[in-house]
Amino acid sequence: QIAYVNGSFVPMSEAKVSILDRGFLFADGIYEVAAVLDGKLIDSASHLARLQRSVGEIALALPETTDRIQEIQKELIARNNLVNGMVYLEVTRGADTGRDFAFPKGVKPTLIMFTSVKDIVNAESARTGIGVITVPDIRWARRDIKSVALLAQVLAKQAAAEAGAGEAWMVEDGQVTEGGSSSCFILTQDDVIVTRHNSSAILPGCTRKAVVALAEERQLRVEERPFTVAEALAAKEAFITSATAFVQAVVTIDGKPVANGKPGPMTKRLREIYVDFAK
Ligand code: PDD
Repeated sequence: QIAYVNGSFVPMSEAKVSILDRGFLFADGIYEVAAVLDGKLIDSASHLARLQRSVGEIALALPETTDRIQEIQKELIARNNLVNGMVYLEVTRGADTGRDFAFPKGVKPTLIMFTSVKDIVNAESARTGIGVITVPDIRWARRDIKSVALLAQVLAKQAAAEAGAGEAWMVEDGQVTEGGSSSCFILTQDDVIVTRHNSSAILPGCTRKAVVALAEERQLRVEERPFTVAEALAAKEAFITSATAFVQAVVTIDGKPVANGKPGPMTKRLREIYVDFAK
């Protein structure tokens, strides 16, 4: 496995950054995850636009242009002979000589990338659907920034794993914000696809954006608004979207079935539409 670190392609065992890196010390960094299907980067423009926006929101200048970043991603995919999986990218404010909270001067950002193998299209969980648990959303107030400060999500997804669930749905003021690493959707009894509107309360999911656009192109009804766990439990279908899951049915919430507890036809249809879009 080859990784990219600050301008060089190196074997994973040699891919290292400083212990003074601000990503490590302060979670002062941004990340992106894009899927790879048949060796091709999926929805790249959308992920790079979000990267550009995230770094802008924390006043961090990318050390490379987004065009160059995409070239590096493609080269890494080729060097690793990656067919299906994902490319992880992280940019931090770099390694200073000490531990000052305020931005250091003259420090070059750290840029790293690596790939991992995952058969997203044929994932078992895509066929069966997943169970989710609900947890309080204890994150900070700027969730629109794809920050590497993921401790709340680590704890949420660990709780899900311990409960035998595939994702944690985070809840704030009685409403679902998003999944630990996914966007949340329901299909109401009158066939409206509902997903929370973008704001600082959630990450603007690239897959969410594509699925909403693809659904609207097909004259499916979409409403962007918050929903409650009770509404999700009373829904016809529920599902999540993310770069590494695409569209996956949610069949139970806190152990209670959504409808008949099986992936529904709309979820299956949207998954097929998204896979076609990605291919
Ligand atoms: N997570 N919400 C959160 C909190 C996320 O971390 C993610 C993605 C999403 C979905 O966004 P997208 O469709 O652009 O992947 C929503 C990535 C996959 C991760 O952390 O691994």
